[in-house]
Amino acid sequence: MKRGLLILTAVALLALAAPQVFADYSRSDAVTVMRASRQYMQEISAAIGKQDFHEAAGLLMELAQGHQSLTQMSPPGGSKAEWDRINSEMVAAAYRAIGAIGQGDTAKLQAEMGRISAMNREGHSTFRN
Ligand code: HEM
Repeated sequence: MKRGLLILTAVALLALAAPQVFADYSRSDAVTVMRASRQYMQEISAAIGKQDFHEAAGLLMELAQGHQSLTQMSPPGGSKAEWDRINSEMVAAAYRAIGAIGQGDTAKLQAEMGRISAMNREGHSTFRN
């Protein structure tokens, strides 16, 4: 009985700890994501400029996946919660931009592009030395 309780407690503690497992900051992985993001942002703007929204949606998904992957590692310093919040807000803005494409709402698409750029600025002012 006591042993059962011990095992239950251990399993409960492991379950609690599991979501907090993430890798240390990797400069090379982060820089790879950032350089890809710069490229995607240029390509997304160009695709929107020539009204190729299908192309823009695919690139927005790539952009989102890169920043989602950053939440699997700790930041180069500072708050992990802030790192997750800023990256997650950027990812959410990219998804909303794809939604705006689905709705044919170019004003909303532009607003979400502005939100992505705002998260870029906030991420850099908070975490980039
Ligand atoms: C559209 C969004 C973004 C773009 C285009 C972008 C672009 C870049 C670029 C070009 C670099 C320099 C990479 C190099 O050394 O060659 C960089 C660095 C960096 N960015 Fe971003 N970024 C974006 C969003 C973010 C966000 C949301 C965060 C944090 C929440 C962030 C944090 C950083 C950090 C910490 C570095 C320094 C990496 C290092 O040298 O350790 N960036 N970014």
